[in-house]
Amino acid sequence: MKSECRLCNRRFCRIALVVVLLAVVYLALRFTRDTPVTYADATEHFKYGSTGGERDAGIPVALWNVLPDLFAKYLPGQGLASLGFIFETNRAFPIGVSERNVQGVDRVFLNCAVCHVGTVRDTPASPRRIIIGMPANNMDLQSFERFLFAAARDEDFYSTRLVDEIAKRKSDDLLNRLLFRYYAVDVARQRLITLAQRFSFMDREPDTGPGRVDTFNPPKVLLNFRMDTLPTNEWVGNCDLTSIWNQGKRQGMRLHWDGNNDSVEERNRSAAYGTGATPPTIDRASVQRMKDYIWTNTPPPWPYGIDSAKSARGGKIYDQYCAKCHGKSGSDFTGEYVGKVTPIEKIGTDRHRLDSYTEQLCANQNLLYAAYPAERFSHFRKTFGYANQPLDGLWLRGPYLHNGSVPTLRELLEAAANRRATFYRGYDVIDRERVGFISDVPEENEKKYFLFDTQLPGNGNAGHEGEEYGTNLSAEEKDAVVEFLKTF
Ligand code: HEC
Ligand code: HEC
Repeated sequence: MKSECRLCNRRFCRIALVVVLLAVVYLALRFTRDTPVTYADATEHFKYGSTGGERDAGIPVALWNVLPDLFAKYLPGQGLASLGFIFETNRAFPIGVSERNVQGVDRVFLNCAVCHVGTVRDTPASPRRIIIGMPANNMDLQSFERFLFAAARDEDFYSTRLVDEIAKRKSDDLLNRLLFRYYAVDVARQRLITLAQRFSFMDREPDTGPGRVDTFNPPKVLLNFRMDTLPTNEWVGNCDLTSIWNQGKRQGMRLHWDGNNDSVEERNRSAAYGTGATPPTIDRASVQRMKDYIWTNTPPPWPYGIDSAKSARGGKIYDQYCAKCHGKSGSDFTGEYVGKVTPIEKIGTDRHRLDSYTEQLCANQNLLYAAYPAERFSHFRKTFGYANQPLDGLWLRGPYLHNGSVPTLRELLEAAANRRATFYRGYDVIDRERVGFISDVPEENEKKYFLFDTQLPGNGNAGHEGEEYGTNLSAEEKDAVVEFLKTF
């Protein structure tokens, strides 16, 4: 015993003790680290800020960086941009990807902007403009998921292979490389393979293509619904990404495409949980900044000139037929039925998205997070139609209807039989005549666009037809209505 005490009194032992203590403190600090990359500017914060999703769901940055190179064969073109991710100059990550250091590892995950920021070009040769709050018209999230799943199943996705690749880029220190080699890569792989199995339901539906997702089947997976026994009428939940301008003016309206929630606050919060955050991990202050931003953010005006006489004629027709459901204008959302739900029998549009949201899912959502009273949902309802929404920024919201099945506004004013049965999505040049995106371009600079087929389940382009919906107007009157809608 005594000899041990003497040993400890020796100088080198004391130093060793200090070193060990410092190491413990360092490791404790390192492994309890939780620091997001932050942005002072509100717009930048919306594009790149963290919702907290990286804490649980984050992908190590080192891994994120090597995957597109190592598994390029699973991408449709060059890098992640080929999936529709928007890269700005001088940014490490594309729009919609946020970064946070969790337990010493830099991690990334997706935020609101990946689905709610899009691009537009005036002509094929023009630079693209990035518009915050418009639907992410180019973003093909389903193909991104399939890319990750395919990579995880590939025999090259094993730790030494990936760690060698990571080491080549010197993007992480020794400790993290050890962590990747002996732990993180295998865990990531396992997680992705489990997710791939649980998300195999999406192979039963037609591909979403860019600018669309299935909103309410993924929450069923997360709530442990048996997806294999789901009734067939719930299988297809594909719908367009929405614009999210002027949220403050939407308070109290039944929105989401089917009007299943009338609280903007809950719509935001449920969306944040969709970005990988949960009540214990959500970054409330950061998400609040995003909510504040979209509360007042407005769409840019139509930039190509408007024939004011024609627009005035269209305005009168709009007033007579449309205003009661869609509001007086692009900024005045008053109207008897605005924010209410038109029954499916009356609106007659494709019912798949409506049917994919069920009483059972609604009941389960309202039961979630019992341990977090402030986080509970109480505004979800099962509805029986689609919501009458304000039409702000309409020129940037094509293709139209909840499933994006009608390429232009002018065609929405035609009976379904006269709307195009197939067209291309993902091209971002504006169609100034018919209003919407030009949708007959299959390919550009080796980028292939997505052929949308209105015959497939969930893609039907019928409905919103008849007297009340303007399809019986004369061609001249329809042109005038479209001219007026450019002012929105
Ligand atoms: C994975 C893509 C995706 C992400 C990420 C996402 N959203 Fe959405 N958002 C959607 C889709 C799709 C809808 C339409 C849902 C439906 O009705 O089926 C929507 C609808 C909304 C709506 C309602 C719009 C309306 O008028 O009905 C709001 C508000 C909204 N999102 C806010 C957010 C916020 C805030 C975030 C980040 C915390 C976010 N979203 C993240 C896809 C996304
Ligand atoms: C009775 C209410 C009602 C009337 C009247 C009505 N609409 Fe609609 N409108 C809806 C509903 C409900 C939807 C959503 C349907 C869907 O997506 O399946 C919709 C969708 C739309 C959309 C697509 C919005 C988007 O973001 O894709 C446009 C554009 C539109 N209506 C324009 C008009 C115009 C123009 C008129 C008048 C000529 C009109 N509507 C009359 C209820 C109405």
